[in-house]
Amino acid sequence: MELRRLGDSGLMVSSVGLGTNNFAGRLDDEAARVVLNEALEQGITFIDTADIYGHGSKEGPGGSESQLGRLLEGRRARFVVATKFGMSMSESPLERGASRRWIVQAVENSLRRLRTDYIDLYQVHTPDSETPIEETLRSLDDLVRSGKVRYVGHSNFAAWQIVDADWTARSENLARPISAQMHYSLLTRAIGAEVIPACAAHGLGVIPYFPLESGFLTGKYRPGGEGRGRLSESARAAEVMTPQGFERIAAFERFAGERGHSLLDLAFGWLLSQPIVASVIASASTPEQVRANVAAAEWRLSAADMESFAAL
Ligand SMILES: NC(=O)c1ccc[n+]([C@@H]2O[C@H](COP(=O)([O-])OP(=O)(O)OC[C@H]3O[C@@H](n4cnc5c(N)ncnc54)[C@H](OP(=O)(O)O)[C@@H]3O)[C@@H](O)[C@H]2O)c1
Repeated sequence: MELRRLGDSGLMVSSVGLGTNNFAGRLDDEAARVVLNEALEQGITFIDTADIYGHGSKEGPGGSESQLGRLLEGRRARFVVATKFGMSMSESPLERGASRRWIVQAVENSLRRLRTDYIDLYQVHTPDSETPIEETLRSLDDLVRSGKVRYVGHSNFAAWQIVDADWTARSENLARPISAQMHYSLLTRAIGAEVIPACAAHGLGVIPYFPLESGFLTGKYRPGGEGRGRLSESARAAEVMTPQGFERIAAFERFAGERGHSLLDLAFGWLLSQPIVASVIASASTPEQVRANVAAAEWRLSAADMESFAAL
């Protein structure tokens, strides 16, 4: 497994990570244990969760962290654990966002559920327009200084918010965010036009989410309803599985096939051929999927192939 530095920091993450937004929901403890064990076996050490994951499961919000906490017992030190805060955890307006009040509470909740005394990467899940970024960064800086959090990152920030956060942290001498999560895949390449250069200029590592478009980019879904999985059961199906979506998939498959590769190889390989991408955090339902994803992540496209693909 290739390890990459997360942005300009010294934190090394596995280039294939494991997303866990299906933990506690679609995966019970035993199914999640098998997936996590296989991930470790394959060299995956970077695990991404969030306080909100598990929403809708019998454990409720926090379920993914709680399940992960049970599964990490006795081997926490072998993983780099990333989690997030900021989404609505209840009806209460006090249990969401990126205010000092909520951050100080949210981190305690996550530490308890994860059964750990430190979080490797603590991420603002989504921008909070109600809270000044300086308040958020100062609260996170306090957590870094206290040792509860090792590094800080964010997710779903626009390019200007990435720059604003970086300059605020630099000018106030606060812990700088080292990573940015974003929806970035073969189907959402356009987002990179603004956000990726902002990350590059400010030394942030990119962590793409939905790298497989919830399974669509594995090629298992076919026009006419073939293929079963979380995508076919979710509201995203209508957005993604359109006639135009299937045409694009066919073009991607041709491109990959002409180079002796599969669509899955292209989904991982195109992301990991960009040095700024630190870790691709796909979720998996089974150990077979974990193995397939790690194998797919070996392809590095040449500069000429990257250029040809950009024109597709
Ligand atoms: N920051 C944010 O706002 C944000 C938002 C969304 C997600 N995330 C993070 O990103 C992670 C990944 O996102 P995601 O899981 O929603 O989307 P994804 O990684 O694009 O899709 C994963 C799903 O695809 C299927 N799959 C995976 N590998 C496969 C394979 N080799 N062959 C066939 N099917 C395969 C599995 O579902 P089935 O087996 O059911 O088909 C799996 O759950 C999340 O777990 C979370 O950590 C972050």
